[in-house]
Amino acid sequence: MGEEVRESSVDEIDDSLDEHLIHDVSFVEEEHPISDNIHDTSAKPRRLFDIPHSSPTEEGLARVVTVTNQKGGVGKTTSVINIATHLALRGARILVVDCDAQGNCASGLGVDKSRTTITTRDVILTPGSSIQARHATAVEGLHLIVGDHNLVGVEEALAAQLGRERRLIEALAPLRPHYDLILIDTAPSMSIVSVNALTASDGILIPVQTEYLALEGVALLMGTIQEVRRLLNQSLGVDAVMMTMHAPTLLNTQVAGHLREIFGNLVLEPPIRRNIRLAESPSQGVPIQFHAPQSHGGQDYALLASELEALWFPGGLRNEG
Ligand SMILES: Nc1ncnc2c1ncn2[C@@H]1O[C@H](COP(=O)(O)OP(=O)(O)OP(=O)(O)O)[C@@H](O)[C@H]1O
Ligand SMILES: [Mg+2]
Repeated sequence: MGEEVRESSVDEIDDSLDEHLIHDVSFVEEEHPISDNIHDTSAKPRRLFDIPHSSPTEEGLARVVTVTNQKGGVGKTTSVINIATHLALRGARILVVDCDAQGNCASGLGVDKSRTTITTRDVILTPGSSIQARHATAVEGLHLIVGDHNLVGVEEALAAQLGRERRLIEALAPLRPHYDLILIDTAPSMSIVSVNALTASDGILIPVQTEYLALEGVALLMGTIQEVRRLLNQSLGVDAVMMTMHAPTLLNTQVAGHLREIFGNLVLEPPIRRNIRLAESPSQGVPIQFHAPQSHGGQDYALLASELEALWFPGGLRNEG
C-alpha cells in the first residue's frame, strides 16, 4: 500500500486518503466503551468497572499489598512511605519493597541507596537473596528492599526465563512469616517487575489523584488486574482506593464523588489533601510523621492509615502494645 502511494499522481493519492477515511469511520463505529474491554468475572451488578475484591490474609503470613496506578505522579511512593511508617509506629512489622527504578522509597525512608549492595533487581533475578536484601530504615520495625536504576534491565535479563512472573512470589515466601505487611511500590508502567508485584500480592491499594482523566487510569488498571487474575493470580483483588493531592475545587470534588460512586466502601477517607509538607519530607530523609505530623498531610495520612489498620488487621496487630 505504501509503495503504491509513492508512485501515484496527486488525484490517486486523494483517492487513497479517502479509502483511509472510510476505514477510520468503520473503526469508530466499532469502538466499544471502556467497560466492554474488561472481562466480567463478578456476579455483582455491572457498573462502570468490574471490581475484583481481594481475599483475607493467610494466617501467620504477612499480607502482601501492591500500591499501584499506571498513571505517574499520583502519590504512590508518598503513600507507601507514610502508610508503612504509621503502621510500623503502631507496632506492625513492615517490609517495603521498592519495585520502581526511580528508587524513591530509599530517600523517603532515610536509607542511603549508594550503600546498598543487594537491590530489588537482585531479588527478582535471584529470589534466594531476599533475606540479605533488607535494610533498616529511619523507622523502627520498618525494613526496605531498595529499588534502583538497574531494575530497568530486568525485563531483558528475564526474557528467556521460565516462570519469570513468579520471581517475587518466590523471593517473598521466606519473609512472609516474619512480617505483618509487605508493601510494594511500583513504577507508573506495567513492566515484568510490576507484573511480578501483582502476582505476589493478596491485594492492591490504588492511589488516585482527584483530577481530570483520573478514571481513565483506573479503567486501565482494572483491565490489568483482570488479566493478572486470569493468567497468574486468581486471588488478586482491590483492597482499597485512596484519593490523593486533593484540593477543594469543583473538579476535585466531582472526581472524588465519581470514585465513591464507582468503588463504594472500597474508597478510604479522608482524601489526602495537597500539602507542601508532604512534598518536602523526602528531602529531609524522614516520613511526614517525623517532619510535620500536624500538617494537613500528616493528619490525613494518620487517619487513612488507621482505616487501613482496621482493614488489614481486623483482629489487631500480632505484637500490638
Ligand atoms: N498530597 C500531596 N501534596 C503535595 N505534594 C505531594 C502529595 N503527594 C505527593 N506529592 C508530591 O508529588 C510528587 C509525586 O508523588 P509520588 O512520587 O508519591 O508519586 P508516584 O505516583 O509515586 O510517582 P511515580 O509514578 O513517578 O512513581 C512528589 O514530588 C511528591 O513529593
Ligand atoms: Mg513513585
